[in-house]
Amino acid sequence: MSEKTIHVNTPSRAYDVHVGHGILDGTGQLVREACGGGVAAVVSDSNVAPLYADRVLASLGAAGYRTALLTFPAGEQNKRLGTLGTLLEGLAQAELSREDVVVALGGGVTGDMAGLAASMYLRGCQVAQVPTSLLAMVDSSVGGKTAVDLEAGKNLAGAFFQPSVVVADVSCLRTLSHELFTDSCGEVLKHGVIADEDLFERVAARPINAPGYSQEELAEVIARNVQIKRDVVDADERERGLRQTLNFGHTLGHAIEAASDFRLGHGTCVATGMCCIARASASLGWCTEETCSRIESAVRAYGLPTDTQLAHDVIFHYATHDKKRHGSTVNVVVPCSIGSVQVRKVTLDQLRTIIDAGCGTA
Ligand code: GLY
Repeated sequence: MSEKTIHVNTPSRAYDVHVGHGILDGTGQLVREACGGGVAAVVSDSNVAPLYADRVLASLGAAGYRTALLTFPAGEQNKRLGTLGTLLEGLAQAELSREDVVVALGGGVTGDMAGLAASMYLRGCQVAQVPTSLLAMVDSSVGGKTAVDLEAGKNLAGAFFQPSVVVADVSCLRTLSHELFTDSCGEVLKHGVIADEDLFERVAARPINAPGYSQEELAEVIARNVQIKRDVVDADERERGLRQTLNFGHTLGHAIEAASDFRLGHGTCVATGMCCIARASASLGWCTEETCSRIESAVRAYGLPTDTQLAHDVIFHYATHDKKRHGSTVNVVVPCSIGSVQVRKVTLDQLRTIIDAGCGTA
């Protein structure tokens, strides 16, 4: 067992993210130290609960908690107000008080929904995030974004609500399919482009979805991703400025994801969106051709798509019906070089030019 601890210090809460190999059975102790309380309600989905809930419940029990397990059917289609309501009723039936803790055990859907339930229950109890997917480990479990989806779009109802502790055991990734693991690699590459050329070089030269990575090496890469995200959310918890850089690849990527009716994975679409905005940026003189081709080569090395054949009108439609639109402008994140990006406010006409220059042009 090895572990790295990353300290997050946002204005609303300070907490530790523990990243390691074989630390799941220590969850109870870590939650006890960070949260206290007497009851721990584990929230998990129908895929993850059979794999890990028993171990986490045993560990919480050994740390002195009375425990409850609340499960919901797996899938983004269940990240809805109805499921949230059922979870809230479950927390009440388990008789949690405001001092008690919700333990979100699973991927991004579970973390988002359990975090939102914790933010609402009794106007806020505590949440411990125990991510079991790569996406949740490197992105969604850290930074306090919680949400459910509405008919009108993904993540439209939510709250900023920081966890009290995050426990990321990379050995849980062994049960993830190669496809799901690869999908999340889009976010890992994104962190390299926005903030760390060394990380980018390392994971581009030796893709983490290829055989041969040890659990320790993977833990190191994940911990570096968490540090990058930590630096951003410490500086800008509420996404007023710097946190927008985490949306690199997302304006076009999210449009591609929505146009596919969410059949394409989020990280896959982010990877494609990064390549599209990089091509547009190179053609508009915002970055060099070399920066663009390094991003494309890295995405290709993961077996992720570097372009989309969607009609430009369709991409434009979805890109302008996103919650990140501000009236007649959209903030797009463009690469300056590997390790550095910039947020640019563009008009809808300029967005069309970007789509024309970057999409379907590989
Ligand atoms: N996933 C982007 C953020 O947490 O801001």
